[in-house]
Amino acid sequence: MTLYKGTDLVCYCLKVDYATIRKAMKDGARTVDDIQEMTKAGTGCGRCLSQVEAILASACSCKDVSMDAIVMAAKSGAKDVREVAEKTGAGSCCGRCQPLIQNVLDSEK
Ligand code: FES
Ligand code: FES
Repeated sequence: MTLYKGTDLVCYCLKVDYATIRKAMKDGARTVDDIQEMTKAGTGCGRCLSQVEAILASACSCKDVSMDAIVMAAKSGAKDVREVAEKTGAGSCCGRCQPLIQNVLDSEK
């Protein structure tokens, strides 16, 4: 997958950047439909949809931890960001993904 940062454009049709997609994930987007609704990314030619899917699947880019792994850690009893980091490694490097991890924890309560 392309390694995106900050203001890198993901969806050229609708001019949606990586940071906007990550923010939507922090705000609860978990599916491509959610991302399309919240950001409009992917609602034009559709060429960016595979990239949107890849961004959605990856929650912690430093440690290459998937969203699924974080959801599983929350379901299997991790109560806070530190415990998710102990189980998966996610959130233990730059910390940028910690608000997303917290959001997953909150939505699993
Ligand atoms: S590049 Fe995203 S819809 Fe066309
Ligand atoms: S993106 Fe998760 S610790 Fe850096």
